[in-house]
Amino acid sequence: MADQVPERDPTTFSNYWQIATEHIDFSWSVDFQKRVITGSAVHKLKVKDDGVKEVIFDVLALDVHSVEVNENPTTEAKEPCLVLSSQLDALSLQYEIKHNDKVMGSALHIPLSVPAVGSVVEVKIAYSTTKDCTALQWLEKEQTQGKKFPFLFSQCQPIHARSLAPVQDTPSVKLTYTAEVRSVLPILMSAIRQSPPSESTHDGIGEKEIAYTYSQLVPIPSYLIAIAAGDVVYRPFSPPDAAKWTSGVWAETELVEDAHEEFSEATVQFLTAAENYLGEYRFHVYDLLVLPPSFPYGGMENPCLTFLTPTLIAGDKSLTGTVIHELSHSWFGNGITHAHASHFWLNEGWTTFTERLLQQLILSPAARGLSAVIGYKSLLAALQQFEDTGRSKYQRLVIPFETGEDPDTAYGRVPYEKGSNMLYYLEHLLGGLAVFLPYMRNYLDAYMGKSITTYEWKDHLYAYFRERDPSKVSLLDSVDWDAWFYGEGLTIPVQNEFDTSLAKDAFDLADRWDVARSVHDLSLLAFEPNDVKSFAAGQTMVFLERLESYPALPSAHLFHFDNLYQFSTTTSPELRLRFYLLVTLDPTSEAAKHFAPDAAKWVVGNDGTGVIKGRMKFCRPVFRQIYKVDQKLAVDTFEPAKDQFHPIARRLIAMDLNLSE
Ligand code: BES
Ligand code: ZN
Repeated sequence: MADQVPERDPTTFSNYWQIATEHIDFSWSVDFQKRVITGSAVHKLKVKDDGVKEVIFDVLALDVHSVEVNENPTTEAKEPCLVLSSQLDALSLQYEIKHNDKVMGSALHIPLSVPAVGSVVEVKIAYSTTKDCTALQWLEKEQTQGKKFPFLFSQCQPIHARSLAPVQDTPSVKLTYTAEVRSVLPILMSAIRQSPPSESTHDGIGEKEIAYTYSQLVPIPSYLIAIAAGDVVYRPFSPPDAAKWTSGVWAETELVEDAHEEFSEATVQFLTAAENYLGEYRFHVYDLLVLPPSFPYGGMENPCLTFLTPTLIAGDKSLTGTVIHELSHSWFGNGITHAHASHFWLNEGWTTFTERLLQQLILSPAARGLSAVIGYKSLLAALQQFEDTGRSKYQRLVIPFETGEDPDTAYGRVPYEKGSNMLYYLEHLLGGLAVFLPYMRNYLDAYMGKSITTYEWKDHLYAYFRERDPSKVSLLDSVDWDAWFYGEGLTIPVQNEFDTSLAKDAFDLADRWDVARSVHDLSLLAFEPNDVKSFAAGQTMVFLERLESYPALPSAHLFHFDNLYQFSTTTSPELRLRFYLLVTLDPTSEAAKHFAPDAAKWVVGNDGTGVIKGRMKFCRPVFRQIYKVDQKLAVDTFEPAKDQFHPIARRLIAMDLNLSE
């Protein structure tokens, strides 16, 4: 059934199978006042097909100033891209920009004089970004921790790189890059810094322009190109002596010590372990960057520089799972990359599987189990959400994307959890970790650095076992692949059994509350604040989620519940989120009406903190839930605050609230 999804990337206009970028040199100036990046991208492309008459790049909301082409670059020249023959100069004027699609952007067509297969073509595009670039969020100084300087960050995954630079915006193309970026604020990129040194300070910060240079020598897909700028400082971690990588954290001064405390131990421990089980870490630098609160994700695996939401700084190291997830992408996603959006699970499913596997190997089987239980609940919620909104296609693991379809609106937990559940099932089916770990290593060795489809993954799986242990092939044949790949609906083909030794106490407490619903005299209930005191953060999450999976408790019980456990004032966003989902489960209830206004204040920072919950994991479900309770409250909360949210979050919340942007 390999024809269920398109072979070529349906989210790009580029002709990447005919000619593909191998390297880009960026030269940029960042202007915080005008909120633009101006400069150029010089592509070095390799011709793959005879008779290529043009190269097509993706662009979205970019002002293209000029294009120069050199079809005969001399390899010896220091800056060959600048050596242009006058004949080819003439060609450069003929570029054309076609289409203007809200999601896909436009196609920048640049004519070529039919270069030979294998030859190298250089194309220089001078351009600037515009206010409509979806990849960039420019923040006012008030939106930062220090409130002294503005901030800028990019988010290119899935298809926003085309609004940062003209690129062939498909993960099927991998490229190395260098960048020289002039800025009055420190610049960070998804690459290794060449100058100035990370530990140096930026004199005349905010006023004096400095050139920052970076180089990414491992080929990466365009969605991993990343930039951030702000008043950030660096604190190194302490990797083991034998490590061939450095690691540390970047954050605004006010947060950097807390961030160091929160992440240093887990980052070093898990990166070391990951190398041990998965093979060498190829990117040499593994830094974290703590972003301002509007960062729309928990984490983003930009190479050399994972981006993190500040909401992970819990004070008790309880949310480091996200760092383990992002560093696991160094192998799955940044190493072996999905060929295009239909195969996104190859990135996220494998990474989620690995994140939990490392937790088992380093912490305990129970830790893996707890994370899997939380993940499974999020899968059921995501399947239900797609059911309710009539988008059952996104319940699939392998999604038949159509040209122009927006991968941001398809984003959800399905590729993470269906994918990792399928791999967990295979691990157990094939004989446990003694069999599965060597297989993983072989898969990594076979495809490291490549971009592949689900079908290539499956072919390798069969080939591996056919060769090493043919007795396993009949087991593989027993797998209902079509159900896993293309199945829709509210369940998955196989129910996995997880280690519930940590989850069990949380389940038990939830069950006691469930039974207590029929007791009307609350003074007879034997609950007390201590019930949850001994729980680890993850267990409390499981407790709240389990309760939410039952019919709504009576409002009187929920008020009593909050008096005892005080979740309505917890500073943990993970717990606040789950509490609000629980008390608004019946949107018509007294409890829902009582807590919806609190939830509204919390999500936009009108709760005295002034800090929005920009991470989509928090703001989207909370807005959706408020909307169910009181549509007007949801819209009136969102409208005045919407500019504080990241452009991607803004668009998706507007969609959730049935507002047309
Ligand atoms: N690569 C993703 C984030 C992403 C995916 C951004 C698709 C844009 C499009 C990242 O690795 C991720 O999965 N983040 C999770 C972390 C969680 C699973 C621990 C998130 O943000 O919730
Ligand atoms: Zn991920």
